[in-house]
Amino acid sequence: MSKETLTIIDNRTGKSYEVPITHETIRAIDLRQIKVAENDFGLMSYDPATENTASCKSTITFIDGDKGILRYRGYPIEQLAEKSNYLEVAYLLLYGELPPKSQYEKWAYDITHHTIIHESIKKFIDGFRHDAHPMGMLLGTVGAMSTFYPEAKNIFDEGIREKQIRRLIAKMPTLAAFAYRHSRGLPYAYPDNDVSYTGNFLNMMYKMAEAKYKPNPVIERALDILFILHADHEQNCSANAVRAVGSSHVDPYSAVAAGIAALYGPLHGGANEAALRMLVEIGSRDKVPEFIKRIKAGEGRLMGFGHRIYKAYDPRAKIIKEAAYQVFEVTGMNPLLEIALEVERIALEDEYFIKRRLYPNVDFYTGLIYQSLGFPVDIFPVLFAIPRTSGWLAQWKEMLLDKETKIVRPRQVYLGHEKRDYRSND
Ligand code: CMC
Repeated sequence: MSKETLTIIDNRTGKSYEVPITHETIRAIDLRQIKVAENDFGLMSYDPATENTASCKSTITFIDGDKGILRYRGYPIEQLAEKSNYLEVAYLLLYGELPPKSQYEKWAYDITHHTIIHESIKKFIDGFRHDAHPMGMLLGTVGAMSTFYPEAKNIFDEGIREKQIRRLIAKMPTLAAFAYRHSRGLPYAYPDNDVSYTGNFLNMMYKMAEAKYKPNPVIERALDILFILHADHEQNCSANAVRAVGSSHVDPYSAVAAGIAALYGPLHGGANEAALRMLVEIGSRDKVPEFIKRIKAGEGRLMGFGHRIYKAYDPRAKIIKEAAYQVFEVTGMNPLLEIALEVERIALEDEYFIKRRLYPNVDFYTGLIYQSLGFPVDIFPVLFAIPRTSGWLAQWKEMLLDKETKIVRPRQVYLGHEKRDYRSND
């Protein structure tokens, strides 16, 4: 008998089954042969939050949650944050290797030359209420983009697919900045091709009457590092949404819109906004112990803490905490930092958080940086969605080109009524 197998004994029948183990997994479909009677459906696995089910094979991102390790295509996140830039990382995620110089230049040129949005998309943004949440505006406009590029539905045409990838990465900052300016009643600032990806985003956000906006290099670099750290995170809720929706072979704008919708939630990309609001609510350093007591009593969650995968310090949070100090040298200290540090100090010494292995995650310190950079709180999730677009597209492309991909269709355990006949309620 081969060693790479699992023997299952069904105590209902006494029968024994041998199923192969590959990459430390068994195939759930192999359980289907386990039946009590010949005409049974067969055994299924039950995993409501897909906590212990690998939904795909992937070569993009590696995480070891116990050791706090994150790598894109094998490269440690710490090295990428120190030495690379966001566009290079986006290329790495999508194509598997760091680009040679000439290829990088072509890639950066292509992205830079797709940043302008159709004037009619601008009209959509105009149509939103002045107080519309920017993430809602982004979700709506990205979904609407599929109607502007109907050829995008030809997802198996490589040329067309690649073009939409460039469009999405290029236009996301434009949509985000336009959504922000709409909410402020400011005229839209058009893209500037002479500056970097993040420099251009800052230009579209903050340019006022000056002839040319010059981004502060420290702030531009800090934002670039944040973009690198947020670019991908393997099979999280939004990547899973993009893959699941994309498995129906819909165009990438619709699939990415599904990712944005998933990211919007406060347990996912909305946590940076929620974490900052929490620090504001705490108000001062001396109120932290009382606040922690309320969390432990079950009154809500400590936002920016805990992670499904990381049961150690989130490696991204470590880098962000360091980057925060560099930003504060330019912008001045964020007064909420001392509250955040006190929350972290108390939580990391508290039995409740130690026992549950709850550490700061990526969202705990990002809000402080974003706020110091002048971003309003409700645009924080949008700042997560912009860089995550490259990760979503890498996951989407990998899913499409995987021979094993089929439309996603989970099963259920039906616990409702047996058949019953219609009866009027009069
Ligand atoms: N504050 C207080 N208690 C918590 C927290 C928290 N932030 N997170 C988990 N717990 C407790 C939870 O109550 C449970 O306790 P018990 O065993 O007594 O019932 C235990 O820890 C396990 O929690 P869980 O809900 O089973 O864990 P999960 O893996 O399903 O949840 C999480 C992961 C990220 C949704 C959760 O930790 C959370 O809600 N954190 C706050 C929101 C947040 O910061 N989200 C950003 C995640 S990182 C960015 C991203 O990838 O989107």
